[in-house]
Amino acid sequence: MRYTVMIPAAGSGTRMGAGKNKLFLKIGEHPILYHTVSIFQQDPQCEEIILAVKTEEQATIQEILKEHSNITFVEGGGERQDSVAACIAAYKGEGIVLVHDAARPFLNSLVIEALVRKANDTGAAIAAVRVKDTIKFAENGTVQQTVDREKLWMVQTPQAFRYELLKKASDQAIQDDFLGTDESMLVERLGYDVSIVESSYDNVKMTTQEDLAIGEILLARRK
Ligand code: C5P
Repeated sequence: MRYTVMIPAAGSGTRMGAGKNKLFLKIGEHPILYHTVSIFQQDPQCEEIILAVKTEEQATIQEILKEHSNITFVEGGGERQDSVAACIAAYKGEGIVLVHDAARPFLNSLVIEALVRKANDTGAAIAAVRVKDTIKFAENGTVQQTVDREKLWMVQTPQAFRYELLKKASDQAIQDDFLGTDESMLVERLGYDVSIVESSYDNVKMTTQEDLAIGEILLARRK
């Protein structure tokens, strides 16, 4: 089933402490951004890639990606949500759209396929994995409650939506000056159901230096 992916890549990655956009850091031979975009360039079901970048980084990114004829570049914003809103504004179709962080280069195609199908059925579907640790709710350093782990999920991207639902949720968030940490939150606050698709623990977000070391291991294992 066909889809379009929107990839926010306009962050600065301060937690990585690289002094530049962390997406330019290499895992193996290629930068993180190259790995992520390649997943979608190799997927015949992906109709279009809309990539939010900083204007001053676009030339470098085009060089990194080598092949970029199937990519629509848009100017990213101050917050991740603004970068995604710029992608939404650039989309011309009315099908299923995925939002995927450029910083997650180890997504597998089975998860993409499951998300697209689920979003087509229900309107909204997000990738997530089960919590492995015991989770406590604490206040002032004292445990108040042990949360039922069976009901807890760690949420990732991609998040998949029928376009009109994502657009409606994004427009409403802008109107209300609401800033969420993912697109699902914007949809949830309008009262719509969001389905969970069980994803893989490999789909880690490259955030700190430790994640890069994990990335090297994941890449070696794939080879
Ligand atoms: O910083 P973090 O890894 O949580 O950002 C998630 C994704 O959002 C990254 O791919 C980053 O480049 C992107 N982003 C963006 N515009 C911003 C901030 C982050 O496109 N203003």
